[in-house]
Amino acid sequence: MANSMENAISQNSDFGYFDVWKATIEERTGVQITPDRERALALLLERRIKELDSQDIDQYMNDALDIAKGAQEWSDLIDSLLVKETSFFRHQPSMDYVKTWVRDAVREKSISEPLWIWSLGCSTGEEAYSLAITVEQAMKAEGQEPRYGIIGTDISREAVFHARRGIYRESKMAVIDKPINSAYFDPVGSGLWRVKADLRRRVCFLTSNILTDGSPLVRRKMHLIYCQNMLVYFRRWKRREIIGQLSNHLDNQGCLMLGLGELSNWLPSGFTRVTQRNIQAYIKDKTVEQGEAR
Ligand SMILES: C[S@@+](CC[C@H](N)C(=O)[O-])C[C@H]1O[C@@H](n2cnc3c(N)ncnc32)[C@H](O)[C@@H]1O
Repeated sequence: MANSMENAISQNSDFGYFDVWKATIEERTGVQITPDRERALALLLERRIKELDSQDIDQYMNDALDIAKGAQEWSDLIDSLLVKETSFFRHQPSMDYVKTWVRDAVREKSISEPLWIWSLGCSTGEEAYSLAITVEQAMKAEGQEPRYGIIGTDISREAVFHARRGIYRESKMAVIDKPINSAYFDPVGSGLWRVKADLRRRVCFLTSNILTDGSPLVRRKMHLIYCQNMLVYFRRWKRREIIGQLSNHLDNQGCLMLGLGELSNWLPSGFTRVTQRNIQAYIKDKTVEQGEAR
């Protein structure tokens, strides 16, 4: 190998190649390579260059960053680099609020059509299935046949593949109560559990980049957008820009549910913040049409 990526960084912090990688990753995904993630990126690049037996860092970079020629390599690199940590019912207060919001929507008949819910940055699917279980239970508790669809999107192809299969290790199931486990999961052997087919049919997963692809529903707006632990990897101005876009994809009286650390002190026009300290939820005002969040 002509150069070791890791050595190059430690020897020269102005190393041009590395800056190009960092800038391109951020430009294409929104994710910032902060100093604590630099080593992971350097090791990853070094491993790939070795695996491909490439003698030339220049050539590898040109090929991998070429939008057309490098699509597969780029997607694999991004898959290895992104933080995809997730779990079922990861933030219980947010899920509890979703239950209340769905209950109220059913009681007040404020939404006449099936509920459309978007889990953005859904990783391997636990969040989207948790939403499905929560909505299903809330509707049934009101004596209503479940009428909803959930769309999970993520930039990672590998994560979306996993999400579609809906198979999870025993260790992932520890947070799930017994009754929920038996109602919505089947044991499939070797300590694995699969989301039951009825629930899987409700949830559709797509590989999609929020920076370039927008909403997965083209002709209709979402009733609930749930976006947690994704924007924290983006710069603040980028977070605001994306949240502004999301608000345009939300139906009147729809709910935007962010993670607590996603963006603090955000006072959007056309939205009312839910006054509950342990969640960050906003309800879109009835009269706002195509309003830009500020
Ligand atoms: C830490 S996980 C959070 C998963 C889940 N939302 C949760 O809270 O448990 C962040 C996810 O955001 C995804 N992501 C990062 N940048 C993205 C982008 N530009 N478009 C769509 N998804 C993205 C990553 O692939 C990753 O799966």
